[in-house]
Amino acid sequence: MNQTIHQAARLKGAVALPADKSIAHRAALLAALSDGPSKITNFPDAADPRSTLVCLRQLGVEIDEEERGILMVEGVGLEGLQAPKDPLDCGNSGTTMRLLAGILAGQSFDSTLVGDASLSRRPMARIADPLRLMNAAIALEDGHAPIRITGGQKLQGIEYRLPVPSAQVKSCVLLAGLYAEGETTVVETIPSRDHTERMLGLDVFEMGGARYLTIEPGWRIAARTWTVPRDFSAAAFLLVAASIVPEGELFLPGVGLNPSRSAFLDVLRAMGASIKINYEREEGGEPLADLTVRPAALHGVSVGGALLPNLIDEVPVLAVAAACAEGRTEIRDAAELRVKETDRIDAMVKNLRALGADVEEFDDGLAVTGGAPLTGTTVDSFDDHRIAMAMGVAALVASGETTITNAECASISFPGFWEMLDRLREG
Ligand code: S3P
Repeated sequence: MNQTIHQAARLKGAVALPADKSIAHRAALLAALSDGPSKITNFPDAADPRSTLVCLRQLGVEIDEEERGILMVEGVGLEGLQAPKDPLDCGNSGTTMRLLAGILAGQSFDSTLVGDASLSRRPMARIADPLRLMNAAIALEDGHAPIRITGGQKLQGIEYRLPVPSAQVKSCVLLAGLYAEGETTVVETIPSRDHTERMLGLDVFEMGGARYLTIEPGWRIAARTWTVPRDFSAAAFLLVAASIVPEGELFLPGVGLNPSRSAFLDVLRAMGASIKINYEREEGGEPLADLTVRPAALHGVSVGGALLPNLIDEVPVLAVAAACAEGRTEIRDAAELRVKETDRIDAMVKNLRALGADVEEFDDGLAVTGGAPLTGTTVDSFDDHRIAMAMGVAALVASGETTITNAECASISFPGFWEMLDRLREG
């Protein structure tokens, strides 16, 4: 599907953002492994978390959804998953594949995890390596999915120092640790999103600048109600859109502001954005707030170092903000972007240049000098939801019209994104 977006003079309205994808995956997985029925409210329609539900059902977990977004999950306990008849299809979802692999490594049965073309190109040695150290039997094809797991291995606890700051790898090892003899400790020197440790209720021990997370043998997961906050990573597109379109105001209620996810808010404010944070509260152990954003003159910033994992998914739309900011923005230490749903550095460099932006490419990031007039043209999503939406935001300030090809992938994390943009420009 191609999406054509015209330059916008104004964006106005309130937006009910989709629920947080990262938290939704984890709520479904933990509910499935708990001893008894759990309820999940505000489960998103987005394709990625739905892939996790499909796989869990294939593993024999009963999940009822009488009302859209309200799930009743019949937890089967750590030992209650059943052998799947077919390969488990993770679709486009790296989180589904990497977290499930940790759980499946500890089962008595064999399983295979497959994904779409993009997921099948993404690196999986980063999870196979620690799982093998734990004695898992796991086979990849040239470092990629399909992932074939042979069941019946007795996993051993390890201490694993993460070679890349990745919440997916951290979570994979911790979930495998639920099935291990002895303690499993993950050590992270650069913090990544902390939903798994929060949701498992792990104590975090900090020493010498590193975080130590330990799963002890016999750890059980209690059945409970999970409420999924609205996705900060989805909010990011609208925070930029409302900042750069000349007029209007957007109200984004109930947005998750977990400190391991919200660095982009600080960065955008440091660029001069006008974002008000109201009614800060906590729900289900996650902080949230209502955000109000208005147009503002932005200026360039430098972003790098340990901040990167905290805003890794927001870099494509940060690059769009940079193209509309005065001065230069440099984003470094972001090489992980090259192994996301697509190579997001390459995709943003090509797309922003196509609109006329002044962009420099580095192995580990990009620099954008703002102020060059953006002119509508045709750009590609590279089948990546965040590239599609970032370019949708850029299109709002490009003269004339911009066509984004293969734009339907926005529904991986944000179903209804394009319709919402139309509604806001009429608001
Ligand atoms: C995620 C972790 C991040 C992020 C992804 C979701 C998660 O990936 O980019 O969108 O839910 O754990 P990595 O852990 O691979 O960096």
